Amino acid sequence: MPAHFTLPPLPFDPEALSPTISAKTFAEHHGGHHQAYVDSLNRLAAAEGMGKASLLEIIQETADAEPDEVSELVSSGDLFVHAAQHFNHAFYWQSLSPDGGAPGGDLLKAINRAFGSLGALKDAMLEAGTGHFASGWLWLVASDDGLELMDTHDAQTPVIDPDLKPLLVIDLWEHAYYLDHKRARKAYLEAVISRHLNWDFAGRALAADSVDDLSLGIANG
Ligand SMILES: [Fe+2]
Repeated sequence: MPAHFTLPPLPFDPEALSPTISAKTFAEHHGGHHQAYVDSLNRLAAAEGMGKASLLEIIQETADAEPDEVSELVSSGDLFVHAAQHFNHAFYWQSLSPDGGAPGGDLLKAINRAFGSLGALKDAMLEAGTGHFASGWLWLVASDDGLELMDTHDAQTPVIDPDLKPLLVIDLWEHAYYLDHKRARKAYLEAVISRHLNWDFAGRALAADSVDDLSLGIANG
C-alpha cells in the first residue's frame, strides 16, 4: 500500500496568532509549503519502496548525517528533505500557541539548571535565531546533559539523534515570517518567543518517552 502521510491540522485558529503570524502566512505556510512537502514525501516514499515505513524510519534511514553531525550538515537526499520537513513543520505547529502560557514543574527546573532563568533562555533563543544564517530551524532539545539550544540548517532535524529529545522548534525559513515582518526575522522571533511558545507542549515533550506519544499527526495512515 502506498504511503499516505497527511497534513496535520493546525492546533489553533489560523487568526489566533495575529499579528505575529497572520492567517495569510498560515495559509501559505501550512496549506501551501507543508502540504507540498507531504505530497512529495508520499510520492518519493512510494517510489523508493518505503511506502509502509513510519516517518521516523524514513528520516533515520535516509539521513546522510551521523547523529552527532546534525547541526552541521546542510544537504541530504530528496526523500530525507521532504520527510524531515514534514516532521519539522508538524513539530512547529505544536510549538506555537495563541497565549503561550509558562513553563512549570520539571521543565522549569531544567530551564533554570541549563540557562539560569526563563528570561535567559529567551534571550539566548533570540540571539541564536537572529544569528542563524539563511534557512533552518531553532530547537530547544533535552538530553542526558540537560537542555540546550540547537540551530539546524535547511531540513536538518535533531530527531535523527536518539540521544536528543526535541521540546520546541521555531521555523527560521523566510516563508515563516516574510509576509508579516518582511526581512525582520528578529521582530518575528521576539514576538514568538515572548508570547507564542507552547510551554505546555514542551513540558509534555520532556515527559514523553517518544515523539510518537505527542500526537503530532505524522502517522503513516
Ligand atoms: Fe516552514
